[in-house]
Amino acid sequence: MARDMDVLLVGGGGREHALAWKLRQSPRVNRLYCAPGNGGIAALAEIVPITADDVAGLVAFAEQKKVGLVVVGPELPLTLGLVDELAARGIRAFGPTKEGAQLEGSKAFTKELLAEAGVTTARYAQFTDAAAAHAYLDANGAPIVVKADGLAAGKGVYVCATLDEAHAAIDEMMDARVFGSAGSLVVIEDVLRGEEASFLALTDGITVVPLASSQDHKRIFDDDKGPNTGGMGAISPAPVVTADVERRVVADLQKVVAVLRGRGIVYKGILYAGLMIDGGVPSVLEFNCRFGDPECQPLMVRLQSDLVDVCEAVIDGTLDRVTLEWDPRAAACVVIAAPGYPGTVEKGGTIEGLADADRIDDCIVFQAGTKRAGDAIVTDGGRVLGVTALGATLAGARERAYQAVGRIRFPGMQYRKDIGRHAVGRTRG
Ligand code: AMP
Ligand code: GLY
Repeated sequence: MARDMDVLLVGGGGREHALAWKLRQSPRVNRLYCAPGNGGIAALAEIVPITADDVAGLVAFAEQKKVGLVVVGPELPLTLGLVDELAARGIRAFGPTKEGAQLEGSKAFTKELLAEAGVTTARYAQFTDAAAAHAYLDANGAPIVVKADGLAAGKGVYVCATLDEAHAAIDEMMDARVFGSAGSLVVIEDVLRGEEASFLALTDGITVVPLASSQDHKRIFDDDKGPNTGGMGAISPAPVVTADVERRVVADLQKVVAVLRGRGIVYKGILYAGLMIDGGVPSVLEFNCRFGDPECQPLMVRLQSDLVDVCEAVIDGTLDRVTLEWDPRAAACVVIAAPGYPGTVEKGGTIEGLADADRIDDCIVFQAGTKRAGDAIVTDGGRVLGVTALGATLAGARERAYQAVGRIRFPGMQYRKDIGRHAVGRTRG
């Protein structure tokens, strides 16, 4: 088949390296551009020095290069309306419009929508007034969850064991404004118990097609200890997502897209539900409007369908004709982070052993916070690498990923030793 289009990928993390790797395999892609990219993506795509939040710059570039498809990785450009601006100029883009992206951009919007769709979620109340928020906390007691409404780089959620912590969270968000305007509206909700999973689906606004199941590991330390991060590792499939859980969540997501349609929003792209599963019953914690990072890495190594075909079916509204093909093997991704992460990190450390790690069969090292410095690859962000491997079983995938991790070195590198361990225990049990 003729290579029929040039593609622009937006973003520069591990998720985008995995997307670039997958797009590069499509026989339909001619030139692949990535803005702003990273040290690893540079080997697969032409790097374009435009940041992911520069909507005008990205639109101008896509127009000038006459790209046939724009694939948007991160949430920020989606919430800024990149897809709307591209569509206004006749450029096809994968991802929801600005209105659709509110699902991730506003927790209050999402909670109202879940209530209207009749989807199980934690009981909640929302506040723009700090005194009323404090009074609600006193009336409900701890433990309780306090969330800043808007985007807060994954940090705007406090699961509070005590009322003192909860009151302090309100003070920080609503008075000190540590998350800026994201704190002008807060959501307070009940704590849910259970096991978390990431449920990603494609939707064209009508049909919902689930991706293979996956699970993130959010805390920095083994055994889910320490502060939350962007994600320290991921696996696919996730045994906690049983066939019954999948059926229930697909039905929930169909209701959500139908309610959105009723509001005039045809949601196209990835609909990612953060789930809490307790005794086989899923509740929705949150929505994201894009692929998870690092969930995308194990998903892309397992996806066998052409990603360009998939993106086009979403844009064209023909998802009802799509059946996704998956590698039956399991995948695990171990994130290696820089010293200091998830706080302030040191950058510029030289990374060694990347080629040695890549040489392991069915293993690929996706790069996130890296850049090229002469012939070397150096650290340039919090999450540095996502070492991803396939295996006949999840245990085998883990083993291979950790074997590759053992070949990589940079000063102060940190990673979890237990990615997928709990899930392997579940498979055996
Ligand atoms: P969110 O960004 O809303 O997914 O919240 C980030 C993390 O906070 C989630 O991955 C959960 O670990 C935790 N969390 C959020 N809401 C709740 C809740 N209602 N109950 C328990 N944990 C929660
Ligand atoms: N891994 C969690 C996220 O992408 O939001």
